[in-house]
Amino acid sequence: MKVNNVDLTISAVRPEQYPEQGYPEIALSGRSNVGKSSLINTLINRRNYARTSSQPGKTQTLNFYNLEDELYFVDVPGYGYAKVSQKEREKWARMLETYFEQRTALRGVVSLVDARHEPTVLDQQMIEFLHYYNLPILVVGTKVDKIAKNKRNRAESIIRKTLNLNKEDKVILFSAVDKTGREEIWNWIDQVKTF
Ligand code: GTP
Ligand code: MG
Repeated sequence: MKVNNVDLTISAVRPEQYPEQGYPEIALSGRSNVGKSSLINTLINRRNYARTSSQPGKTQTLNFYNLEDELYFVDVPGYGYAKVSQKEREKWARMLETYFEQRTALRGVVSLVDARHEPTVLDQQMIEFLHYYNLPILVVGTKVDKIAKNKRNRAESIIRKTLNLNKEDKVILFSAVDKTGREEIWNWIDQVKTF
């Protein structure tokens, strides 16, 4: 999909606030600082459209990006940031449960993990949660520019194994710095958005 027009339609917490146009949606989730906003910016060819920051835990709402009146990207707030209170964590979990349970427009989830490290327990729980909802999953291993080329296959198998991925789940290594994986990710999105 070629994207010229992007629009941050709405930041939502409750279902009444979700946009109503009914375009297909792709959600993006991952731990704080994993590179979600950078991935969105790379996919839509903007330098700094989705907010990127070195301050983890910043995005606290579901941010719906309208692409060409055809598709929404939904930036899901990051998990695993130590300075967030238990109460905030529970609020976050409820918001996600509601969204994944109720949102019929949701076509698939891009789940980001840092390709440089073994996925965390929280990453595993997120995948379990997504398997429970039977959603198509693309795992994106981020910041792959930091991994030597001859170590990338190994990084990918560690991700697959640690996250207990199914045959249908896809893994793509990605870099926002050199754009590795960008086209492959778009191909996956273009495919699942039509279902
Ligand atoms: P929150 O919204 O705060 O949860 O973070 P996020 O997941 O949106 O991450 P963000 O895109 O803001 O990136 C976090 C940090 O990682 C920033 O300093 C980015 O510049 C850096 N970063 C993101 N992607 C890459 C990448 O592919 N390669 C490298 N080397 N750094 C990256
Ligand atoms: Mg972000």
